[in-house]
Amino acid sequence: MVAGGTTMTWTTMTEPSHAAAKAPTVRAGLEGVVAAATRLSEVDGAAGRLTIAGFPVEELAPHASFEETVHLLWHDRLPGADELAQLRDELARHRALPPAVLDLLQAAAADRVGPMDALRMAVGALDLGLSPAERSDPDRLALRLIAAVPAAVAAHHRLTRGLEPVPPDPALGHVADYLRQITGEAPPADRARGLETYLSTVADHGFNASTFAARVVVSTGSDLVSAVTAAIGALKGPLHGGAPGPALETVFEIGVAERAEEVLAAKLDRGERLMGFGHRVYRVRDPRADVLAAAAERLFTAGSGDRELYELARAVEATALRLLRERKPDRRLETNVEFYTALLLHGLELPVELFTPTFAVGRVAGWTAHAREQAAEGRLIRPLSEYAGARGRRWVPVEER
Ligand code: COA
Repeated sequence: MVAGGTTMTWTTMTEPSHAAAKAPTVRAGLEGVVAAATRLSEVDGAAGRLTIAGFPVEELAPHASFEETVHLLWHDRLPGADELAQLRDELARHRALPPAVLDLLQAAAADRVGPMDALRMAVGALDLGLSPAERSDPDRLALRLIAAVPAAVAAHHRLTRGLEPVPPDPALGHVADYLRQITGEAPPADRARGLETYLSTVADHGFNASTFAARVVVSTGSDLVSAVTAAIGALKGPLHGGAPGPALETVFEIGVAERAEEVLAAKLDRGERLMGFGHRVYRVRDPRADVLAAAAERLFTAGSGDRELYELARAVEATALRLLRERKPDRRLETNVEFYTALLLHGLELPVELFTPTFAVGRVAGWTAHAREQAAEGRLIRPLSEYAGARGRRWVPVEER
């Protein structure tokens, strides 16, 4: 269960807390706390603007290849043609998974481990097969992480279906080869472009929970593999990266626009949250939702994907927004990135269980860039807590309790 608001329902205190009498200084969920400066991205929650390394997301995402976005985040500028070719080549060379990681994924598939847990296990083992010098080279680890995350997601996906993993094809770009490693076939250009747009849209987003987790790990002087492993654990939760699957399931459950009100109102009556709506920082519409809605529309208009589903999703969105305004008039709950992520990834024929892992395929660019930035800053992240427990207890031997 997720603890909401400022109340920690799982704590039972037998004695009054002295701390409870103090003026409140705790910012639950670190809401509104600025923890560091970053040049990587700016989330302007009031204006609904996202800037990624200087580019409005609407400008960057529809144009950039994923490799260009990675270069931009790592080096704060777009690559020239030679630099781009070199990065594509380096990523392609790091795509093949170490045999021990493939064995691990095979064991995870046999044990019915979910895709995000399998990805966490695989990433945690990605420094296998590297020399000590390679293991302590963050640039090399960053290449390996970005290249191997999609390979691990695709391999686990196939293994769970009793299929052999598809070995990477270094002649293809990062995104086209990800889709090929899932399906076994190189994708049509419009599908690869749709996924490039998605991955660049989600590549970085300020101090979101998974990025913050990665930075905390790096701030202790730990390594990049540990940082990305922690980030994947944070991304898995439904309040962060786990929402698009349930968002799409809601659209399917509704089925026809006329049922939207009935189904959504019943969810709200049961105290459920509508997946794909609301955001900790954005108080207006999430700008990424528009970028992805436009990409989904392009894809569906070009004939890939289901145009009727797109129209249904728009109707569901309109009803959800109206109901949320009626029920929570003092809280602006708008469409977030996950709603149109679900639609776009479905249009790209990715199965629902690959939605959150595919988010990781994009966000690993941001995690590695933040890790570099944090390492350069070199300041341990160590906030304070306010003690809310008992005091002055006296030891009682076990036989007297
Ligand atoms: N559906 C229904 N009610 C929602 C809601 C949603 N999607 N999002 C927030 N609310 C409600 C909360 O229940 C709460 O109501 P209350 O004050 O009566 O208890 C109020 O709005 C504020 O919620 P809070 O949890 O403080 O908002 P937050 O800013 O901390 O939460 C999210 C942000 C993203 C966790 C939250 O909006 C959510 O759970 N959304 C659904 C999951 C999702 O789409 N996640 C992907 C995020 S990109």
